[in-house]
Amino acid sequence: MNPFTLIIFGITSNLSQIKIIPALYDMEEKGLLSGISVLGVARKKQTKKEFYEYINKVAYLPNVHHKHQIKKEVYERLCRKMSYIDGDLDDPNFYLRLKNTLAKESNIKSRVFYLAVYPGLYEMVFKHLKKNKLTQQKNGWARLIIEKPLGFDLKTAKILNRLLGKYFTADQVFRLDHYLGKETLQNILTFRFGNGIFEPLMNSEYVDHIQITATEDFGIGKRGAYYDSVGALIDVGQNHELQMLALTTMDAPVEFSSQSLSRQKVKILKSLVPSKVVFGQYDGYTKEESVNPNSTKDTFYALKTYIDNERWKDVPIYIRAGKMLKQYVTEIVVVFKNPINRLFKHLDCGEEPNILIYRIQPNEGVVLKIVAKKPGQETELEPSYMQFCYKINPEGHFFPDPYERLLLDAIKGDQTFFNDAEEVEAEWAFVDPLVSTRGKPHIYKPGSWGPKEADELIEKDGRAWLEPSMDFCRI
Ligand code: BG6
Repeated sequence: MNPFTLIIFGITSNLSQIKIIPALYDMEEKGLLSGISVLGVARKKQTKKEFYEYINKVAYLPNVHHKHQIKKEVYERLCRKMSYIDGDLDDPNFYLRLKNTLAKESNIKSRVFYLAVYPGLYEMVFKHLKKNKLTQQKNGWARLIIEKPLGFDLKTAKILNRLLGKYFTADQVFRLDHYLGKETLQNILTFRFGNGIFEPLMNSEYVDHIQITATEDFGIGKRGAYYDSVGALIDVGQNHELQMLALTTMDAPVEFSSQSLSRQKVKILKSLVPSKVVFGQYDGYTKEESVNPNSTKDTFYALKTYIDNERWKDVPIYIRAGKMLKQYVTEIVVVFKNPINRLFKHLDCGEEPNILIYRIQPNEGVVLKIVAKKPGQETELEPSYMQFCYKINPEGHFFPDPYERLLLDAIKGDQTFFNDAEEVEAEWAFVDPLVSTRGKPHIYKPGSWGPKEADELIEKDGRAWLEPSMDFCRI
């Protein structure tokens, strides 16, 4: 790999601490950072020693996605690749210092700017980078990584896209949705389009409905200020869950390329017809740190939607997500129709529908729930799973972390698992009208599945939320 510098604006941000620095650690452990130097930027003045102490502290912070052991020698190798520069992003002199710092490594002509800062600062950063010719791609390349919030609604998303277009070419911009870097989400494409037998079933003739769940059994932690400005629907619905929906239901792309994938996803996103949405808030949310004591923001939502196309005609899609719920689980469940002529429908389980589960986390895998004969003399049925599971080593990190994978993709210039401008706008176009109906949320008990109104939303249709099973793909 040609040498390049990764410049992280906001190296002391929550995003850097939770996601970016742990991903860099993993990359270093696997020897993937060779030729890469990392320059952290933040406002705080700190010495080299203090910066390394900060990185050390972050490397050892408890992290739900990084439970593996941190090795001192890896951390030290990582630190040798990292340096720090302080500065105010609105100070023109800072960019001169940045330019001089980058120029010191005269053999490095390529750079990735990762903006882990408040979006309100983007325009200023872009302007100064351009003025100092840091976005030029003369002898190397210059790329930009940004992630949600990509706008705060359709209008501001469009403004952001225009702004990006003013300062960068489309191939320079990497809009990151970390769910697209998850192994099991990427596997949906292989499962659907790399096999022959499942895809013919993915339509309204065979599918009764789809459920998408992204629930967490913990609260907002120290992210109150951010979370209370968005709420659950914008936090994970506008992006991660719509991407899950699009990958599950889109038509086959003509080729495995960024443009083809985006084109199909956009078709789905633009065909979504919202039906109903329920908002909830966990009891105690308004007492969380940095949350408005009178906040009406949603920490839970459940919605029903349809895809207005021939393939998915009249197939409802139920989506839910939230914090402080009963279970930590992210999955997409395709519930198949029950054929009338089933031989054993008089027996217990005889009318259980077949269910396909893409389990994003935990117990990652792709699983088909079937009915099988209970071993024994009698003809008795029991539900069982045909499963594809990963051989996970709990001590190690078998999958690349989404941030590690997507950082590497950005370095390679591969936008396949990044969003383009049109996708982001289509996501907002769907979510905006729903957000505008947000009134007072229904309060729910921590540890429950959310407010009862979310159950009623699906029960009205004679269906029920499925209790996510932990019985398959156990480590
Ligand atoms: C983030 C949201 O985008 O995704 C968080 O801001 C959420 O609120 C997180 O917890 C979930 O990501 P993961 O990878 O832990 O499932």
